[in-house]
Amino acid sequence: MKAGLVSALAALAACGEAATTPKVTPRDELAYSPPFYPSPWMDGFAEGVEYMYAKAREIVAEMSIPEKVNLTTGVGWQGERCVGNTGSVPRLGLRGLCLQDGPAGIRFTDYNSVYPSGQLTAATWDRVLINKRARAMGFEAKGKGIDILLAPVAGPIGRIPTGGRNWEGFSPDPYLTGVAMAESAMGIRGAGVIACAKHFVGNEQERFRQAGEAQRFGHDISESMSSNIDDKTMHELYMWPFADVIRAGIGAIMCSYQQVNNSYGCHNSKLMNNLLKDELGFQGFIVSDWQAQHNGVSSALAGLDMTMPGDTTFNSGLSFWGANLTLAVLNGTVPAWRLDDMALRILTAMFNTNLGPDQLPDINFSSWTLDTDGPVHFVANENFEVINQHVSVQEDNANLIREIAAKGTVLLKNEGALPLKKPKFLAVIGEDAGPNPKGPNGCADRGCNEGTLGMSWGSGTANFPYLITPDFALQAQALKDGTRYESILSNWENSATRNLVKQDNATAIVFVNANSGEGYIAVEDNQGDRANLTLWNGGDELIKNVSSICPNTIVVIHSTGPVLVTDWYDSPNITAILWAGVPGQESGNAIADVLYGRVNPAGRTPFTWGPTEESYGTKLLAKPNNGKDAPQDDFTEGVFIDYRHFDRISEEDPDSAPIYEFGFGLSYTTFEYSDLKIQRNDIGEYKPTEGETLEAPILSNFSTDLADYVFPDDVRRIEQFIYPYLTTAESAEEASGDLNYGQKPDEFLPPGATDGSPQPRLRSGGQPGGNPLLWDAIFTVTATITNTGDIDGEEVAQLYVSLGGEDEPVRVLRGFDRLSIPAGESVTFEADLTRRDLSNWDVVLQDWVITEHEKTVWVGSSSRKLLLKGTLDFAAGPEPEQPEEETPEPETPEEEAPEEEYPDEETPEEEGEE
Ligand SMILES: *[C@@H]1O[C@H](CO)[C@@H](O)[C@H](O)[C@H]1NC(C)=O
Ligand SMILES: *[C@@H]1O[C@H](CO)[C@@H](O)[C@H](O)[C@H]1NC(C)=O
Ligand SMILES: *[C@@H]1O[C@H](CO)[C@@H](O)[C@H](O)[C@H]1NC(C)=O
Ligand SMILES: *[C@@H]1O[C@H](CO)[C@@H](O)[C@H](O)[C@H]1NC(C)=O
Ligand SMILES: *[C@@H]1O[C@H](CO)[C@@H](O)[C@H](O)[C@H]1NC(C)=O
Ligand SMILES: *[C@@H]1O[C@H](CO)[C@@H](O)[C@H](O)[C@H]1NC(C)=O
Ligand SMILES: *[C@@H]1O[C@H](CO)[C@@H](O)[C@H](O)[C@H]1NC(C)=O
Repeated sequence: MKAGLVSALAALAACGEAATTPKVTPRDELAYSPPFYPSPWMDGFAEGVEYMYAKAREIVAEMSIPEKVNLTTGVGWQGERCVGNTGSVPRLGLRGLCLQDGPAGIRFTDYNSVYPSGQLTAATWDRVLINKRARAMGFEAKGKGIDILLAPVAGPIGRIPTGGRNWEGFSPDPYLTGVAMAESAMGIRGAGVIACAKHFVGNEQERFRQAGEAQRFGHDISESMSSNIDDKTMHELYMWPFADVIRAGIGAIMCSYQQVNNSYGCHNSKLMNNLLKDELGFQGFIVSDWQAQHNGVSSALAGLDMTMPGDTTFNSGLSFWGANLTLAVLNGTVPAWRLDDMALRILTAMFNTNLGPDQLPDINFSSWTLDTDGPVHFVANENFEVINQHVSVQEDNANLIREIAAKGTVLLKNEGALPLKKPKFLAVIGEDAGPNPKGPNGCADRGCNEGTLGMSWGSGTANFPYLITPDFALQAQALKDGTRYESILSNWENSATRNLVKQDNATAIVFVNANSGEGYIAVEDNQGDRANLTLWNGGDELIKNVSSICPNTIVVIHSTGPVLVTDWYDSPNITAILWAGVPGQESGNAIADVLYGRVNPAGRTPFTWGPTEESYGTKLLAKPNNGKDAPQDDFTEGVFIDYRHFDRISEEDPDSAPIYEFGFGLSYTTFEYSDLKIQRNDIGEYKPTEGETLEAPILSNFSTDLADYVFPDDVRRIEQFIYPYLTTAESAEEASGDLNYGQKPDEFLPPGATDGSPQPRLRSGGQPGGNPLLWDAIFTVTATITNTGDIDGEEVAQLYVSLGGEDEPVRVLRGFDRLSIPAGESVTFEADLTRRDLSNWDVVLQDWVITEHEKTVWVGSSSRKLLLKGTLDFAAGPEPEQPEEETPEPETPEEEAPEEEYPDEETPEEEGEE
C-alpha cells in the first residue's frame, strides 16, 4: 500500500512538474514582430475624411497640449458614467466622450433592447437586416448619450469552435464577417454614433488573453499569450474584415489584449502603424482595450490614439498617458505631431458623425448603478445628482429583434415535422425553454446558465427589458390553436418527462443549450471559452431519453457556436433540428415564428458542425507552453479554419466530414439553380500605389516650461481621476513619478519613431481599405434561382471561388445574397468578383496578386451544395460569354454523402407532425 501511495505521489509530482514548468523558448527563437515607424499621420485627402479633416485641423491648431491629451486619455475606471470617458475640453464646449459596450445591446443600463448575437445575425446572410440592427442599436446608444459604441466584432473571428466570444462576432469566414462588419459600421454611424471595430487582432481565445486574469484562474504566467500569425494568414483571414470596415469609414478600432508575435496588441507598431494606418489607410483612431496598454511612450509611437479606461490599472489613479503624455511631448520623446495626429483622428471621426461641440447628447445613465440619484464620479463618490433618467430607447425595435432572430434561425433537419399546424399535443421539454429563476438579469453580466439562453456572458451583454421564453410563446400559440400544452422546464425530471412524451401523438420539442462568454467570468468551470463542444446540463441525455420513446422529437439548440450532434442527429425519431443561436429578448416569439411557419426558415449556418471536437483541427491553447512567460499560440493552420479545413481534409479523412457544412440550412420550400453566367467587366489594370506622403504637419508651437502645465487652481481635483496636468513643476521626473524617467531616447526609442518627414506609400495602400483598385469588379456572376415549391420562401445563394494553387483552400466564399422568391417564381442572383476577391496575398511583393492558376466558381446553396459551376476567363473581353454549366457533380466525396445530409432536396410534407 505504502509503495503504491509513494509511486502515486511521485507520479503526481512528476505530472505537476510537467504541467507547471513547461520549457521556456529562448526569446530570439520566438515569433517576432518587426518594428514599423513612424506612425502614419492622417491623410487629409483620403476619401471620406477630406472635409472634416480640414475642420478638425483648424481646431487642433488652437488646442493646448493638455486639451489634446484630454481627448486621448480616459478619466479612469468608474471615474464617470460610461465604461470609458475621455477628459473634456471646456473651452470648446466639448464634454468628455462616452464609450460604452457593446455589440448586442447597450450594457449597464435599463429600458434598452437586447439584440440577437452577431453570430445569429450573420446567419441571416441578410445585409439589410445586419445594417438595420446596427442602426437600431446606434439609435439606442444615441438616446442614452453614448458617443462611441464598442461594436462590431471581427476578433475573435472564430478560429476555435469553443472560443468564448465567437457569438459576439459573426462568422469564421472572413468574407461574410467583412460584409457584416461594413454594414454594421455604416448602420451605427448612420445613427450618429462612432462605431468601434474590435479586437485587432488575434484575440481568438479568452484563456491567457490577459496574464492577470489567467493568474486569478490559477495559471502561472506573467505575460499574456502571443498569437503568432504569419503575414499571408493575417491578410487573407484575420485582417480581411477590418479592411472592409475601414473602407466603410469606421471611426474607431480597438486593439486587443493579447500579443501578436510577442508584441502586445496595443503596442505593436507592425499591426497599428503598418497594417492598419499605412496599408489599410485607416483615418480613424485606435483605442486600447480596457487595461491593454502597458507603457506610455511606446504605445503612442506604435500608433495608439486613445487609452481606456485611462488609468494604468483599474483605479490606480495613475496613467501611462494623462500627465505622462504631456511630459513625453514636452521632453520630445513623443513628437508633437503624433499628439496632434491623435487629436485630429478623434475630432475628425467625431465631426464625421455629427458629434461636434454642442452636438453631443446628454449622458442620461450611469453604468455603475441603476439608482436614480447617485454620484457622477462613481469611484470618488462625488457630484450627486440624478444620474439615471431611465430613458426608454427601445422604440419598436422588438419587431426587428424578432425578425432577425427568426430569420437567422437555421433549420438543420426536417423530416416533415415542420412547420407545425395546430398540433394536437405539444410537450415542451428542457430548462432552456423556461425562465431563469433569478430573473432574466439575475446574474451579473449574465454570468450563469440558468433558464433559456437569450444572451451569453461578459462585457458584450445588456440588461433585458423582458425575455420572451420559448415556453411562454409556445404556450400562447397552443392556447390560440386549441393545442394541449404541457412543459417541463427542467432537464432532470426523468420520470415525469418520460410519462409525458410517451403519450400518443405527442410532438416533443426539446430545448437545449451550450453557453460561453468573456474570460473574466467562469461559469461551471468554463473560463470564458467552452470547456467542450457538448451540450450543457445533460442536454444530450435529455434528447436521447425523449427521442427513445417519442417518434416526433424536435430539437432546438441555443448556443454560441457549434455543438456535437453526432450521437443523435440521425435518429429517425428526431424529426427536426433547429439552431437558434443566442437570440436576445424576443427568443420565444422568434422560434415560434419558425416552428409554425410564419417565417419560412432561410438562416444558413455561419460555421461548420463537425462530428468531433478534433475534426476542427484548431483548438484552445489550454496550458501554458512557455514557462511563466507568454504562452505561444502558433496559428500553424494558416487560413485553414472552419470549412477551409474540413474541405481540405475530407478527401483523406471522410470520417471527419461535417455533419452540417458551412452555409447549410433548409427551407419549407425548395429551390432550383440554373443559368450561370459570368461576365468579364471592362476595367483597367492594377496599379500599385506610388509616391510619398506629405510631411507630418506642424500645427502650433508650445511652451516647454513645466509651470505652464501644472494643475490650474480653478480645476477641482477629483479622487483617482486622470488629468493631463502635472502635479509639480519642480522636475519632470517628479511629475511623472516614473522610476525610469529620462531614459535616453536612443536607448529605447525605435529608429525612425519620431521622424516626421515624408514617407513612402505602400503599393497595396492608398485609400481607406487599401489600394482602391482592389475593389474593381472584374467579373459579374449571375444565376437564376427558382422557388419550385408551393410556398413563398427566401434562399441564400452563395458564390464560392477556388483561387487554385498548392496549399490553397478548396474554395472560399466570395459572394452571397438572401433572395425573397414567391412560390413558383424565379429571381436573378448577381454577385461581383472584385480584384481582391480573386487575389492572394504575395508576401514577397507585399501586395495582392491574381495567380496564374485556373479559377473555378460555383453558385450553390451551401459550401458543399455547389449546384452551378464555371471557370473564370481572364482573357475574355468585356462581352458576356457562355460558360459551362453543370448540375452538382460527384467530383468530391462530400457530394456523394448520404441523402439526409441534404434533405432540402426533399419536399417537406405539409402535415407531418403526427
Ligand atoms: C509575425 O511573424 C511572421 C513570421 O515571421 C510574419 O510573417 C508576420 O508578418 C509577423 N506579423 C506581425 C504582426 O508581426
Ligand atoms: C480635462 O478634462 C477634465 C475632466 O473633464 C477637465 O476638468 C479639465 O478642465 C480638462 N482640461 C482641459 C485643459 O481642457
Ligand atoms: C507615468 O507612467 C509611469 C509608468 O510608465 C507610472 O509609474 C507613473 O505613475 C505615471 N505617472 C502618473 C502621474 O500617472
Ligand atoms: C393520434 O392520432 C391519430 C391520427 O390522427 C388518431 O387516429 C388517434 O386517435 C390519435 N390518438 C390520440 C390518443 O389522440
Ligand atoms: C461540457 O461542459 C458542460 C458545461 O460545463 C457540462 O455540462 C458538460 O457535462 C461537459 N461535457 C462533458 C462531456 O464533459
Ligand atoms: C423511436 O421511438 C419508438 C417509440 O415510438 C421506439 O420504440 C424506438 O426505439 C425509437 N427509436 C430510436 C432510434 O430511439
Ligand atoms: C519623457 O517623458 C516620458 C513620460 O513621462 C518618460 O517616460 C520618458 O522617460 C521621458 N524621457 C526623457 C528623455 O525625458
